Amino acid sequence: MSLIYKQMQKEHLKAVSQIEKECFSRPWSEAAFYDELENPLSITVVAIYTDSGKEQTVAGFVNVRIVSDEVYINNIAVSNEFRRKGIGNGLLLTLEEIVRRKKASFITLEVRESNSPAISLYTSLGYLTVGKRKKFYRDPVENAVLMTKNLI
Ligand SMILES: CC(C)(COP(=O)(O)OP(=O)(O)OC[C@H]1O[C@@H](n2cnc3c(N)ncnc32)[C@H](O)[C@@H]1OP(=O)(O)O)[C@@H](O)C(=O)NCCC(=O)NCCS
Repeated sequence: MSLIYKQMQKEHLKAVSQIEKECFSRPWSEAAFYDELENPLSITVVAIYTDSGKEQTVAGFVNVRIVSDEVYINNIAVSNEFRRKGIGNGLLLTLEEIVRRKKASFITLEVRESNSPAISLYTSLGYLTVGKRKKFYRDPVENAVLMTKNLI
């Protein structure tokens, strides 16, 4: 059994969009993830779990856009059965390694105010709350907490 982190390829698109559907009320489509593959400003890291029978499963992913030296997390999700095993943590650390090599200055994101698992994850990795966006989300309407990690 093993877990590896790598940049998303075409073969992962179906599984990634399935996890997205499982996790979000307004999910991105498979076509939207395909566009991310083609976009030079986008990075998507996937976590691939290989079981004892050598079967591979996409366990989670994180997708970001890089604008100049700024990194914006669009979405991060781990499939239900793989949660609380350190995969969210591994995805964010892998991402950080990649964007540090590209000389990024900071990573930033919005998260639903009620999403304590995600807020705990970001906090454990040194992300700080830097603001709030009122009624930022729909389905259901909710405030967003703005969190940022400085890399320099
Ligand atoms: C948020 C999410 C990505 C976390 O992924 P994960 O692989 O389960 O997280 P990890 O196992 O790496 O957790 C690392 C740390 O984050 C915190 N954390 C993660 N899930 C938590 C939970 N349910 N409750 C409290 N803390 C939690 C803990 O500090 C944890 O460390 P610990 O297990 O040693 O206590 C996952 O819950 C998820 O996919 N949620 C649905 C999608 C989502 O909300 N994405 C965020 C959008 S902004």
